[in-house]
Amino acid sequence: MKILNLYACLGGNRYKWDEVTDIEVTAVEWDEELARLYQERFPNDKVIVTDAHQYLLDHYQEYDFIWSSPPCPTHSKARYWGFGKNGKKPIYPDMKLYEEIIFLEYHFKGKYVVENVNPYYEPMLNPKKRKRHHYWANFLLPSILSDRNDTNLVQDSSIKALSEFHKYDFTKYKGEQRRLKIARNLVDYEAGRTILETACGIIKQTIPNQTNLF
Ligand SMILES: C[S@@+](CC[C@H](N)C(=O)[O-])C[C@H]1O[C@@H](n2cnc3c(N)ncnc32)[C@H](O)[C@@H]1O
Repeated sequence: MKILNLYACLGGNRYKWDEVTDIEVTAVEWDEELARLYQERFPNDKVIVTDAHQYLLDHYQEYDFIWSSPPCPTHSKARYWGFGKNGKKPIYPDMKLYEEIIFLEYHFKGKYVVENVNPYYEPMLNPKKRKRHHYWANFLLPSILSDRNDTNLVQDSSIKALSEFHKYDFTKYKGEQRRLKIARNLVDYEAGRTILETACGIIKQTIPNQTNLF
């Protein structure tokens, strides 16, 4: 199964995918340090350092499943609540999120999921809300994506707590972004696995005579 993992970060969503089916993953991330660490974590994936938004447009037809996690800061409640503090000016929400959803919905023949945080405004295009994330997909998502308990992270979202939860040592990151911001970016790997499993199940159902697709 050929998978495109856009805005890959450290592959929180991708961590358990090898347990689901045989996969060939291309990951796109423009922070070179994150791309280096992603490659170290997933040596069999092809990692490309470039703009994920443009890469989607140029290469979507090459994949069976596409996961996209566009950056969330311009949509997040935290950023909205921060406007006005320390001279922070309001900014436009980055509409590339919705560009990608509409593009995938109308042009992509495979299965896709786009993930983002719960925004400070009423979200557009009918996402499914699961815990602190919103998902837009062209297949039905289970109502529970993960039964891992992340309530501790609300009280203690330290690097240490996040490292334990995501099974990754974030102190390895030596790049320019804030470590804590990066650690908070990752999707729960159990949710990532459930979503890929669901997509695989649906793809198999649509080809009933084929017992082993991938
Ligand atoms: C929300 S995080 C993705 C989290 C990821 N899905 C996970 O579960 O680990 C977004 C990532 O996109 C990267 N990024 C932001 N803009 C980008 C762009 N235009 N092209 C490629 N990567 C980008 C950031 O460096 C960050 O690592």
